[in-house]
Amino acid sequence: GSSDAGSSDAPAAGDEYGLIEAGTLTVCSDVPYPPFEFEDDNGKIIGFDIDLLTAIAEKLDLKVTVQDVAFDPLQSGAILVSGQCDIGASAMTITEERKANIDFSDPYVESLQSLLVRTDSDIKSIDDLDGKNVGVQQGTTGETYATENAKGAQLVQYGGDGELWPAMQAGQIEAILQDQPVNYEHEQADSDYKIVETYPTDESYGFAFAKGEKDELREAINKALKELQDDGGYQKIYDEYLAA
Ligand code: ARG
Repeated sequence: GSSDAGSSDAPAAGDEYGLIEAGTLTVCSDVPYPPFEFEDDNGKIIGFDIDLLTAIAEKLDLKVTVQDVAFDPLQSGAILVSGQCDIGASAMTITEERKANIDFSDPYVESLQSLLVRTDSDIKSIDDLDGKNVGVQQGTTGETYATENAKGAQLVQYGGDGELWPAMQAGQIEAILQDQPVNYEHEQADSDYKIVETYPTDESYGFAFAKGEKDELREAINKALKELQDDGGYQKIYDEYLAA
């Protein structure tokens, strides 16, 4: 380049990863999805995914910037392929179907499904959902699980938990079927709601990349994740957001 004498000619950190913005990891996430991604009191996006990725980025000398997107086009790969962000971090379950369009990082946390209802509800299990309005988030593994297992239920699709949870509180739906940690967060926040059943779906979340386009970045992130798992950094973030 044509930098002035005295200024650094060193390339920005992360040049080798083909980042959208040099020195910055541009992250797409569907917010809110507590405790994985949500706004704190100052409007800053935090959560298990975001803090973990920020710690990973620090090891790679990168900053993190978050773009709030809808989950469905993120999990389909469309947003990643469009080049809007370098990586998706959205509590996204690693599935065979998604692998057609997405390369995943190593798994970074395990999860399962669950059913949340009002404390005074007559719904005790997934077999009691016949004719009930059950809220699900579009494009999620929870939606798939409900489609396959909640026989006779009237599934109501929402774009995100930011619409799903208020709809529950407004009485528009009688149950939510989604990831257990998120329903658990709601149960903790509002004693009118409880999880009545969990389903051991054996899910693992991964960070998502446009298929075939981000191998170097993905490998660097896997390496930094491993370091954090070994040096206690991962555990600290886990304890902050996920330890029950
Ligand atoms: N784990 C589920 C899935 O991958 C739900 C993820 C939803 N994430 C979000 N940030 N809204 O389908």
